[in-house]
Amino acid sequence: MERIPEKLRTKVMSADDAARLIQPGMTIAVSGFTRTNYPKAVPQAVTRQGTAKDLTLIVGAAVGDCIDGAWTRAGLLKRRYGHQSNKDLRKAVNGDQVEFSDIHISHLPKYMNERTGPHIHIALIECCAVTEDGLYLGASGGTADAAVRNADKVIVEINQSLPLGFMGMHDIFEVGVAPASRIIPITHPQDRIGTPYIPCPLEKIAAVVFTDEADEPQTFKAVTPATTKIAENIVDFLKNEIQHGRLPENPGPLQSGVGSVGNAVLAGLANSGFHHLNMYTEVMQDAALGLLDQGVLDFISTSSVALTDENRKRFYETIQEYHDKILIRPNEISNHPEVIRRLGVISLNTPIEVDLYGNVNSTHIDGTAMMNGLGGSGDFARNARISIFASESVAKHGAISTIVPFVSHVDQTEHDVDVIVTEQGIADLRWLTPKERAKVLIDHCAHPDYRPMLEEYYQEAYASAKGKHTPHVLEKAFSWHLKYLQTGSMK
Ligand code: COA
Repeated sequence: MERIPEKLRTKVMSADDAARLIQPGMTIAVSGFTRTNYPKAVPQAVTRQGTAKDLTLIVGAAVGDCIDGAWTRAGLLKRRYGHQSNKDLRKAVNGDQVEFSDIHISHLPKYMNERTGPHIHIALIECCAVTEDGLYLGASGGTADAAVRNADKVIVEINQSLPLGFMGMHDIFEVGVAPASRIIPITHPQDRIGTPYIPCPLEKIAAVVFTDEADEPQTFKAVTPATTKIAENIVDFLKNEIQHGRLPENPGPLQSGVGSVGNAVLAGLANSGFHHLNMYTEVMQDAALGLLDQGVLDFISTSSVALTDENRKRFYETIQEYHDKILIRPNEISNHPEVIRRLGVISLNTPIEVDLYGNVNSTHIDGTAMMNGLGGSGDFARNARISIFASESVAKHGAISTIVPFVSHVDQTEHDVDVIVTEQGIADLRWLTPKERAKVLIDHCAHPDYRPMLEEYYQEAYASAKGKHTPHVLEKAFSWHLKYLQTGSMK
């Protein structure tokens, strides 16, 4: 099949010509999510030309180095909205060179639709095909629909390396803006409620560029004994909930967060004995594809299919077989509080650190340096049936404790965090008071090397609080972080 309709042929041009539509100071909203399905040819031409400075970039989450990295290195990027994970962009965000505003993934398309932010000049969208109905995406949903809806014009990259089998895997639904926003009628991850394309009048498309460059491959750190143990602890927790009648035999749907820990933990479900589970998530990584193939998972609703080279190849070659197993949704739907709450999603996210009372820091190193952004962790944690945060009990080979007296930055408050899991054990914080939470976190989740130190901090805090609700010694609250900064270890 031809990948564009006859009427669009006159708009086909080189990446360099299309890039000239991007002028200094413009706001560009691009397709892509977790380094999949982002435009490549036009961004590279923008970098080559080097004239479009002071750009504002909006994207649901992380695009490839040819945008986040190259535009940063070339000094073209001024402001960036949405989760990111590029090391050069991270450096620039923490070096005062790129302004970055971290936003809940569910809020970004909502804000775009409400038109409260920067005026979007161009939506730059990678597609596998365009028809007279609209745009057919590749391995993501992201905020591409909101970008197309709200931009002045659209530049399309038709990536011929994307299988046309992506057509039919998406479900695009326009929520609208309050008070006219619509109910989202999803009662099962499998429910289709919209169209398989982003509606877009052909007149809005200013340029079409053909390319065949593949997404950067995803890389994940290997599964370790610690991540295997974390997965076992999560499975034990879920089985105990089932045994006590607090969860159905077939719990979920599950959400699993981005990153190596999330991937490794999910991989651990392979030996769980669970079958026919579902996911309602914003990203499915390598492990999830394996679980689909093994029958541990029956169905995945996601906003991105983020795979290593080997698995992507397999997925593309057999994409038709996944049509009744994977549905790709825009962020506004994948992360919508209404749906997450209704479905009873069990969320699994990775914290940077957790404090004695259950507050979670997902984004900042030592309270000041931005890591990646909170992504959808807040959307899911706040609305999940059970909000689980899972991590190794130490980072940097033991120099850092994940459980600290006071988080140096708060993304998820104690009110949105139900269960903490480390390789040491499980702290079920539901129904517990702050003082009870501190005890289970120290006893069940902290690394043995740090338990006496935490216990000492808590006892001093308890004594000085004289019965107050949440004991702290404020002048010592961040002493662990300061010690790490001064000596390279919290010990
Ligand atoms: N202090 C300092 N550094 C820490 C740390 C801490 N308390 N905890 C983790 N890190 C470092 C690790 O050492 C590692 O550094 P390295 O790359 O130099 O080795 C880095 O953070 C990533 O951690 P890693 O253990 O490899 O896990 P990950 O790839 O799973 O990432 C998060 C963990 C927290 C950074 C990642 O999950 C994230 O960005 N979360 C926020 C967004 C989110 O939760 N989205 C969920 C919905 S998709």
